[in-house]
Amino acid sequence: MTLYKKIKIKNLKQIQQDALSIFPKERYDSTSFFFLPDSAKTFLKFKSIRTMLDSYGLTSYVEKCCVGYSAISPKIRIPIHKDSGGFTYSFNIPLTESKKSFVNFYETAVEPKLIIADNEKNDKALHYYDYNINDCTVIDKLETSSPYVLDTQVPHDVYNGSDEFRIMLLLRIDNSGNQVFEKVFDW
Ligand SMILES: [Fe+2]
Repeated sequence: MTLYKKIKIKNLKQIQQDALSIFPKERYDSTSFFFLPDSAKTFLKFKSIRTMLDSYGLTSYVEKCCVGYSAISPKIRIPIHKDSGGFTYSFNIPLTESKKSFVNFYETAVEPKLIIADNEKNDKALHYYDYNINDCTVIDKLETSSPYVLDTQVPHDVYNGSDEFRIMLLLRIDNSGNQVFEKVFDW
């Protein structure tokens, strides 16, 4: 089973600059996971991001889904979960120095609990499935210092082991694009 693949992005610096330019200042230095209003449209206005997705033929599937940020303070762990919200695959792009920051993948025989995110819009993309760590075994570990694509339906957690605030850009592929994605990345 493929869990993730590291990818090379030619215009990475420009994407990082663009995505950081609209990161809300008040979110700096606190752990949060969020989507801007009209998130896909907002990010696809950037030529850098559109060009990257166009090169894979996946722009329209991101447009149908959502784009968000995962920000994690130093030494903080996001508990084991699988994502929810009409997508399976995601591009995760580090916007800041992300060495010593890891995603661990797990296997388990136990069904997760659905957690309904407590936000004012009750955004489905913020719902997730929660696992108890005692029911899970680590199967792989990935350092998130360079861009990668992953299967968000495999239980995973995220740990920022560095001393720096870490921000990732998350570009979600609507499930209708799964076949295209799997072909492009030879999944
Ligand atoms: Fe996740």
